[in-house]
Amino acid sequence: MQFTVAVDGPAAAGKGTISKALAAKFGLAHLDTGLLYRAVGAKGGDPIEAAKSLTEADLARDDLRSQTAASAASKVAVIPEVRAALTDFQRDFAQRDGGAVLDGRDIGTVICPKAEVKLFITASAEVRAHRRWLELGGIEVEVLAEVIARDERDMNRADAPLKPAADAIVIDTSHMSIEAAIAEAAAAVAARL
Ligand code: C5P
Repeated sequence: MQFTVAVDGPAAAGKGTISKALAAKFGLAHLDTGLLYRAVGAKGGDPIEAAKSLTEADLARDDLRSQTAASAASKVAVIPEVRAALTDFQRDFAQRDGGAVLDGRDIGTVICPKAEVKLFITASAEVRAHRRWLELGGIEVEVLAEVIARDERDMNRADAPLKPAADAIVIDTSHMSIEAAIAEAAAAVAARL
């Protein structure tokens, strides 16, 4: 069975948690595509070469979850050759037998425009910054500035900017519990299975 669920949205809106829950509930493979860009940013050197030669070991680094890695990721993510070098891996993953959930910024618009289900998970910048702050600790105001800067870069780049696909189901999780958001996302998937 080939079945792709594309989950896009800004930082800390709940994409990762929702994607993992969907993968577990429906027995689908899951790819966090942000990890690819984080690994390219963290590798250093020429980002285009880094993207072309990415290995499993690069994806397994412990420091990819940091704010520094996130920021570096969004800087290399504006480079079209970096995005192009990562495209085939993502498309191959999406086509694996048994179905897959991919989460990122351009899955429904560029990587898998024919995905059976497209979700766009969003939340207000304040709510997202607060969630990040709860995860990471630190000074909320700095985290908010960083989240906003990263979203701006992601939304305003020329190649594959962050935006909902025309046929995406938008879920705003600002005032929703994670359980309610997962239930809404799962209902959208179940309706297409
Ligand atoms: O999702 P995550 O926060 O790990 O993504 C880190 C950065 O990688 C994003 O801010 C974005 O710049 C980039 N990214 C992207 N396209 C994707 C996934 C992530 O440009 N599909």
